[in-house]
Amino acid sequence: MPLVCLADFQARAREHLSKTTWDFIDGAADDGFTRDDNIAAFKRIRLRPRFLKDVSEVDTRTTIQGMQISAPICIAPMGFHCLAWPDGEMSTARAAQATGICYITSTYASCTLEDIVTAAPSGLRWFQLYVQPDRQLNKQLIQRAESLGFKALVITVDVPTVGNRRHDIRNKLNLKMNLLLKDLRSPKERDSIPHLQMTAIDPSICWNDLSWFQSITQLPIILKGILTKEDAELAVKHNVRGIIVSNHGGRQLDEVAASIDALTEVVTAVQGKLEVYLDGGIRTGNDVLKALALGAKCVFVGRPILWGLACKGEHGVQEVLNILKKELRTSMTLTGCRSVAEINQDLVQFPRL
Ligand SMILES: Cc1cc2nc3c(=O)[nH]c(=O)nc-3n(C[C@H](O)[C@H](O)[C@H](O)COP(=O)(O)O)c2cc1C
Repeated sequence: MPLVCLADFQARAREHLSKTTWDFIDGAADDGFTRDDNIAAFKRIRLRPRFLKDVSEVDTRTTIQGMQISAPICIAPMGFHCLAWPDGEMSTARAAQATGICYITSTYASCTLEDIVTAAPSGLRWFQLYVQPDRQLNKQLIQRAESLGFKALVITVDVPTVGNRRHDIRNKLNLKMNLLLKDLRSPKERDSIPHLQMTAIDPSICWNDLSWFQSITQLPIILKGILTKEDAELAVKHNVRGIIVSNHGGRQLDEVAASIDALTEVVTAVQGKLEVYLDGGIRTGNDVLKALALGAKCVFVGRPILWGLACKGEHGVQEVLNILKKELRTSMTLTGCRSVAEINQDLVQFPRL
């Protein structure tokens, strides 16, 4: 049977992966309420299509941080792609390059940054940082990413500690035994240490530390995991260039708002002074359209990328992205939007359900 939507990839990936790996990818914190609400919240929003607008040509291209992408659908940072496919992040990078979108590479990538860049030299990539307690290690990682051509630094702010993921505890998941996190060690150590400890994420980082990051890199800084107007206003004040509204796919603090429900508050607070993006629960072209209508410049997709990888490697990721792009084009055509710039809040309504 052909795989025609992201749900098809989800079902097929589940068949391919071990229970422990499936649980790690699919899993969420505590009761998984926010993970499920990320999806349900999109379904509470209704569309208001406009007709008779000559939609014979529809253009999904847009820009993020001034860089062109073929559609406002990019890849969220996720660690450990080698769990889903042997080539891991190298396959993901090739698929992103072929599709013309941005791939945010995680600190916890299972391939080195150099191997990822070599696999897809002309792809647009941003680097996601989990701030490490060792300042010098942060500096080395950021400057290495910058010299390798990564175009933005995404600092994840919602992991001062790892959320309570019951399934991983039950499964006794031990990622550090399975994978080499090569980027977190010096080149010498990278070759000599067979398995290394996953380093802790620094819980002491605060707003005033951002100026240090700004002093060591030219890259625009994007904060990932902001959910409130208070933090959005602080991001503007600290000269951050973008925000990803995200609850980490429901993997951190359970019972926070669905990403799409938090979006409007953040968009309103920043008053157009920086770009706002969203991740969490994007599964169809309609979801992308709704996020853009509510003010996101672009969306990032998480788990479905790993489903694509698990099913067919690089080609699976490409198929997942192309399905979403095609669905977005259809959604735009059926709502009367010829370009991404024409997607606005008049396209959505929130009925009392
Ligand atoms: C398996 C997995 C690993 C992840 N690893 C990271 C990571 O290394 N860094 C990060 O900032 N977010 C990470 N995330 C969160 C994603 O970037 C993103 O916020 C989330 O998956 C979006 O929700 P979605 O899966 O519903 O699309 C991870 C998510 C998953 C599912």
